[in-house]
Amino acid sequence: MKRGAIKILFVASEAYPLVKTGGLGDVLYSLPHALHHRGADIRLVLPGYRALLRQLEQVRILGWLDVRGAEGIVSARILETRHPDYAFPLWIIDCPPLFDRAGNPYVSASGQDWPDNAERFAVFARVAALLAQDALDLGWQPAVVHTHDWQTGLVAAFLADQPLRPKTVFTIHNLAYGGYFSHSDFLRLQLPGHWWSSEGAEFHGGFSMLKAGIVYADAVTTVSPTYAAEICTPAFGYGLDGLLLSMQSKLHGILNGIDTTIWNPSTDVYLPAHYSMSRILPGKRRNKQALLERFLPHADEAVMQAPLLGLVTRLVEQKGIDWVLAAMPVLLAETDVCFVLLGSGQVAYEQKLTRLAKQHPERVFVEIGYDEPLAHLIEAGADMFLMPSRFEPCGLNQMYSLRYGTPPVVFKTGGLADTVVDTNEATLEDASATGFAFDTPDVASFLDAIRRALALYRQPTQWRRLQQTGMRQSFDWSESADHYLALYSL
Ligand code: ADP
Ligand code: GLC
Repeated sequence: MKRGAIKILFVASEAYPLVKTGGLGDVLYSLPHALHHRGADIRLVLPGYRALLRQLEQVRILGWLDVRGAEGIVSARILETRHPDYAFPLWIIDCPPLFDRAGNPYVSASGQDWPDNAERFAVFARVAALLAQDALDLGWQPAVVHTHDWQTGLVAAFLADQPLRPKTVFTIHNLAYGGYFSHSDFLRLQLPGHWWSSEGAEFHGGFSMLKAGIVYADAVTTVSPTYAAEICTPAFGYGLDGLLLSMQSKLHGILNGIDTTIWNPSTDVYLPAHYSMSRILPGKRRNKQALLERFLPHADEAVMQAPLLGLVTRLVEQKGIDWVLAAMPVLLAETDVCFVLLGSGQVAYEQKLTRLAKQHPERVFVEIGYDEPLAHLIEAGADMFLMPSRFEPCGLNQMYSLRYGTPPVVFKTGGLADTVVDTNEATLEDASATGFAFDTPDVASFLDAIRRALALYRQPTQWRRLQQTGMRQSFDWSESADHYLALYSL
């Protein structure tokens, strides 16, 4: 490590490949690495979930920190580990009563929030704030603490009053998840009384960990410029738009990048065939065949010829799944398209998708669950990618699909608006078109965008040009990582 390198402590609740429920995990892998490659000295703090601890090979105990929990003092063991996929050390907060349990980081097997989430993430934040002040005397004092989403919102709040503290940066990956808890949780956790105000963490009779991050961090970022503007309006602000508007001077929209090594169609370890911009067709065709054969043992030429529409997503309202469910029967009736959908989330969506697959076993292929290799194969094997999110802070899947020559159909919002160029006469003419964007939030407009995509798909030369323009886009971290570095040094 170069002398004088900026020391940055990342704090988050997910990081690929150790723990990931969505794009947050991807970003907590790729952004710190991009900064590391630019010379920054990084540590990443994560909760010691059971599934995460089981993946660690060599750990070193850095020490113990005692902090206040809901019922008294909680003791946390701080572990340091080197993971083969990570170029810098990871610090794990090992606190078995809070994190050593089966299942998802946030919800139980039945899909309910863990009842002690307030305590889990308040303790996590208290310990992370101590590490940010080198409470273990490790001789590693960060200049910046960069925290992510509501699970880490209290870190900046705990640090705010400390006289000698690092700069705090809080990134909103999704304003829809506010980390809301009750007044009795606030009291039981003995959170500082002065936070209990409308200018502090209080929110409609309870408190919000996300709001605490917004209020107390020195700088707040979100993951695309358009989303940064949208969250300052009532339609996207979840009641925090007024606050965000009043904090314009410290709010920055910085577009996420993607890891272009992991997501690269010419080297992707999960693909049976590789391809690149100069020669797309044969490789993409073999991936399509492999994808179809996973669901249909004898995928004949008719199925191969039919446009295959892919989707990989958390099955939640945000992602416009109801529009997908409404559009599918129409398209199945009026065209020859097939669908391949991978996702998990709300049970009602899972059941409806499974039912459609049963009704159309030759044309609708559904996998309920979380499957990283299949996500890669869908990006490569599908002909187009559906992402009609009602709102999308950034979205990574549309960038993956552009890179994989699988033009996306998106609602024009947030990061989708910032990364996909709609196809029309002018954008086809100047070769800037990369996908299909609709700007009225309803099924009819979504269907219209898909129909436009299908019409162009039938013109192979134009389609190839669209694929190539998408594949040529550079979504790596270079620009955005520099933007973060500039922000850290302000
Ligand atoms: P979000 O973070 O809102 O879920 P993003 O587009 O930013 O949306 O990131 C989603 C990430 O999660 C992508 O890497 C995507 O491939 C992955 N993903 C989502 N659902 C699944 C799934 N069921 N199986 C595998 N990967 C998934
Ligand atoms: C969130 C958002 C998504 C974004 C991801 C990574 O989960 O929903 O739009 O890409 O975080 O920042």
